Formats: sequence, C-alpha cells, structure tokens
Amino acid sequence: MSQPLPPLQSLLSAMPALPDARRGEFARRYSEQEAVLHQRLSGLYGTLPGFARWYAELAAQVGRLAAARPAELQAQDEQRLANPDWFQDQSMLGYCAYADRFGGSLAGVAQRIPHLRELGVRYLHLLPFLRPRAGENDGGFAVASFDDVDPKLGGNADLDALTARLRAAGISLCSDFILNHVADDHPWARGARRGDSALRAYFHVFPDRRMPDRYERTLGQVFPQVAPGNFSYVEDMGGWVWTTFYPYQWDLNYANPAVFADMAAALLRLANRGIEVFRLDSTAFLWKREGSNCMNQPEAHALLQALRAIVAIAAPGVLLKAEAIVPTRELPAYFGDAQAPECHIAYHSSLMAAGWGALAEQDAALLRAVLARTPELPPHTSWLSYVRCHDDIGWNVLRAEAGEADGADAGPERARARLAAIANFYSGSAGQYADGARPSGAAFQSSDPHAAHGSNGMAASLAGLAGVPAQVAPPPSPQHPSRPQPLAQDLERQQAALRRALLLHGLALSAGALPVLYMGDELAQRNDDSYRGRSEHAMDSRWLQRPVFDEYAFAQRGDPATPAGQMYGGLRALLGARRRLDALAAGAPRTVLASAAAVLALARGPRFVALFNFSGSMQPHTLARVTPGQGAADAGWRDSLTGQLCSGVVELAPWSMLWLEAAP
Ligand code: GLC
Repeated sequence: MSQPLPPLQSLLSAMPALPDARRGEFARRYSEQEAVLHQRLSGLYGTLPGFARWYAELAAQVGRLAAARPAELQAQDEQRLANPDWFQDQSMLGYCAYADRFGGSLAGVAQRIPHLRELGVRYLHLLPFLRPRAGENDGGFAVASFDDVDPKLGGNADLDALTARLRAAGISLCSDFILNHVADDHPWARGARRGDSALRAYFHVFPDRRMPDRYERTLGQVFPQVAPGNFSYVEDMGGWVWTTFYPYQWDLNYANPAVFADMAAALLRLANRGIEVFRLDSTAFLWKREGSNCMNQPEAHALLQALRAIVAIAAPGVLLKAEAIVPTRELPAYFGDAQAPECHIAYHSSLMAAGWGALAEQDAALLRAVLARTPELPPHTSWLSYVRCHDDIGWNVLRAEAGEADGADAGPERARARLAAIANFYSGSAGQYADGARPSGAAFQSSDPHAAHGSNGMAASLAGLAGVPAQVAPPPSPQHPSRPQPLAQDLERQQAALRRALLLHGLALSAGALPVLYMGDELAQRNDDSYRGRSEHAMDSRWLQRPVFDEYAFAQRGDPATPAGQMYGGLRALLGARRRLDALAAGAPRTVLASAAAVLALARGPRFVALFNFSGSMQPHTLARVTPGQGAADAGWRDSLTGQLCSGVVELAPWSMLWLEAAP
C-alpha cells in the first residue's frame, strides 16, 4: 500500500482548481490549526491502525469542502476574521423559533423577516429543520438526514433562499447540529440493522446487559419517565444500543474515527449552505467512560477542539455554540482556551435558571452565587443568555449554588430541598403567583429522589399570567369606551406578571451575553395546552412552551392596553436602550454590587448599573460609586429607559428594574 500524502499536501491536492492565492490562504490556515487538530485527533485515535492515512483523508475532505465554499460565504469569512468580535456587541440579539410554529415553512419564516428586523434581531436560531425520523422525532432532534430539509418545511432550495434573504437582512441563521445521536432510521442506523459491520461500529452496541448495567451504575437519566435507562434493546441489532435520550435516538460512537470524519463533513456541507452558527446539541454527552456520568469528559472537549480547528480552516466565519446544560463550574471548559479554542458561544443555563429561582424565592442570592462563579471569558467568545427556550428549565445545574447559605456550604440536602421548592412553585403545587388557581407551568420528568424536577411553560405564564383569565379585557379607553371593566384584581395580577416577565428579559439583556428571545415571549404568549391531545406529544410536557405564533397578539403589539402590547413595548424600550449602551456589550466587565437580598445590583463597567427587584415589596437602594475614585455617582445617574435623573436612595417598585447610566 502506498504511503499517505502528508496532510497539508493532501488538503491542497483536493483543491486543484483554486488559484494559488486561495490555496496559499488555506495552507496558512491549516498550518495555524495543525498543532491542535493533529494533537487532539492523535490523542483520540492515534493508536488505531491506519491513523496516518485516515488523517490525510480527513485533510483532503476538509480541502474539498473548503474549496466548494461559495464565494459569497468566503467573502463573509474574511469579514468575520477581520472583526472576530462581531457577535459580542450590544446590538447583537437572537431569536429562537420552530420553523413550522413561526412561519409554517422555511418560506413562511422568510415572510417574518420584517418582524425580526423590527425587534433588531441579528441571529435567528431555527430549531431542527432537517429531515427527521418518520413518526415521533423529539421535535426534530432525531435526524434522518443531515443533507435534506424536512419536506414538511420545504426543500433545500428554500433553505438556500432563506439563508440568502436572512444574510441580506443582516441576520445570521443558526441551526442545530445534533451530533450526539442520529435517528434510528438514519442511513447509518439502517445499514447497521442490515448487518453492515462498519456501520454497526458507528454506534455503541452491547450483546447483553453486562456492560449497560455497569455503565448505568453512574449514569443519569434525561427522560426517566418516558424513556427510562440509557440503553434500548433493538431486535435487528441483536443487542442493546446506547440511547441517552429517546430509544429512537442512537448515540454515535466517537471512539470510531469514521464517525468524527463523517460528522465534520456534514457540518461543513451545512456551513456551505449558508448556516452561520451551529448549536452543538447535547455536547456534554459525546464521550462515554465507565464509572462516570459520561458527561463533560476530556475527550468530548478534544473532539470539539478538533471540530473547531476544522471550521477555522474551511469556514472560519462560522460560529460554534455549546448546548451543555451542566453545572456552572463545567461551563467555561466549553470555550476552550487561547491555545485550543472550542466553542464561540455557550448557553448560560445557570444564569437563566437562577433568574427564575430568584423570582420564586424573592431573593437574588442564587443569581449572586452564579455570577460569582461566572469567570471572565477568553477573547472572542460570548455567553448566551435567555429567559426561556423549547426545553424545560432544569434546576439541578444550580445544585452547588443552592447548597450555599451565607457563603457556607449548607450541604446537598438543603440544596435539593431548595431547588425542589422552586420547581414546585412553578408547577403549581406551592406558593405560585396564581395563588393555586391555575398552575403556571408543568413539572417535567424526574425519577431521581435527590433531584428537583424540571419546569415547563412559556415565560409569561410562568411569571404569573397563567393565573389570570385570558379574557381579561384592557380597561375602557377613549377609543373603546364600551369595553367591559376588568376585575381590578385580575388587572393587577396581569401587570405584575408582565413586570416579572420583563424583569427576567432585562436581566438577560444586560448580563453580558448574546441574548436570545424565545418565539412568543415578546408578545407574552401563554402556555399551549393543546399538546395533551396529540398522542405523539402528550407524554412530553415541553410542548407546553411550543405554541404556534399568535397572529392576534402580534396584531396587538402596538396597543399598550393589551398584554401583548405591554410586553412588546416594554421589551422594545429595553432593546433600544441596550443598543446605545456600550457597557452592555457581551465582553464588558461585570461586577455585582452590595444590595438588599431581594435586589440584584449589577454594574457593567464604572458607568452603568442595573438594579432588579425580585420581590413583591418596595426595595430602597442606595446608589454609590461603582469604582471608588471614578466619581460617576457624584453627578448622579440617569435612567436609560425614562431619562429621569436620580441619586442617593432610589425606591424600586415590586418586580421593577432600573438601568442607570452615570450622568455626564
Ligand atoms: C437537546 C435539545 C432537546 C433534545 C435533546 C436530545 O437537549 O435541546 O430538545 O430533546 O437535546 O436531542
């Protein structure tokens, strides 16, 4: 057998038609990435026979896909490289939606671009839109083809048209890249079922329960009620297949280099269609190790670093985003470091959960604890902040913070009880805003007596709107003098719920992150109970927060007498202020200041302070200098939203916030 070409030559030989200058550019990028790429992959696969040949073939494949990248996207890569912090500035705003629920189809999503522009959105995360498994498919998270759009949503031409239109509107398309598993009817799984041994090796398959039982000793469970355990017996495979999520989602075996090479190629093909950001789904689970919970393993990070190096060679304008719903201390690793960068963006799920926790407890302690554990980021990276998403709010990421009382460790039992109380608050069994009348949300699955169950629901409902009759009419107005008078008590509860929903949005927008709005929250859309009547969704209460875009609420967005109008108006005021404030860029410094327990006082640099009152009572707060000697407070502060000047002691109304700029 002939010797493999050296990797760089192999890469360049795959792009013979390119002019020398372009080839030179790719050679330069490869040389820059080679140390990390080769080291990580040889660490994972170097002892396997044929590694050198496999690596040379991988380089050739990267070369082919780099050469195939459309000129327009290559030009965008160059722009991004010249401005690598483009996604960090304070005008960056994301929006997340299911394509079918938002626009009916990909073409319908394109029709919604004016709405996105009105909000100032520059990044659109469309939940899975590739061809999913036939039948149940976990909202598209069981992918049957990485190369075809879900026919229910359109064809590949619609995707190309959408990315082009979004690009023209200054909006980057983000797609899920579901790399931990494929659907059980993906061609790899079909081949494996037919007995193809090479494809069987794409999965973790065990002939009997011996190994699964050993692994199970230390594994958690994601869907313990409807998909208990982490292994599913598959008749055609004659064994147990590793299925962390639903039984029809087969975990890929990344100990097999062919899996890595095929997945890297799938990602680059999608990038060449104009997808600019990849949400790397379930990144924590990529590597299995007996005796561990098989999450956050060093090899999972090595895989991500190798993937990042490949992107940096072939599509360097593309961003990788980690979806790792893990304890705060495990999160920073997903950014890698200056020598071996990993993802550009990572969900800050602890910050999100702690915001809801602070509302339930009427105390910002959890938030302060999370922020204290949130380190400075490596250059050219950003957290992603959010209020709600399509998944449940998982409380267990906060175990460490919940176990802290006055800076001391109060132990796991206190942490569990505290998180369980918060979870119950939102699922309606205790102390919720609606006074027990109607639950704000639904409990998600749990079987672990040592853990709190997750919580489902739309932001406005969880914040208390669920407890207010939907038909609360706005009060009579000069335009509508004959409107029936709503019950004062209902109106008050409605106002309080909207203030709470806005409070959490204010936090996400000012915390130092790329904030992503969740479709419908901008209009205070409520829970959608209809999933209970759909057999394929009834067992998964995450569908509570997956409603169809509410055209009626949308039409009311300019009417401040309606809940939709109040939420939309309040949000737009925050967004407008944010765009003006450099201090709110993702990378600007962040300091937590002293405050009352119910208040979070968050300084962003010396000249901006955001105050959030998480309680239902008035809270006085004494404005002081952020940095002694920098004098901003002497001249007082200006409310960024109303323009009013203040100094000394401010009174924060229940569930209100102030965004204060140092007055000049
Ligand atoms: C991620 C998704 C979730 C899905 C799971 C399995 O956590 O956000 O919706 O069920 O991965 O793909």
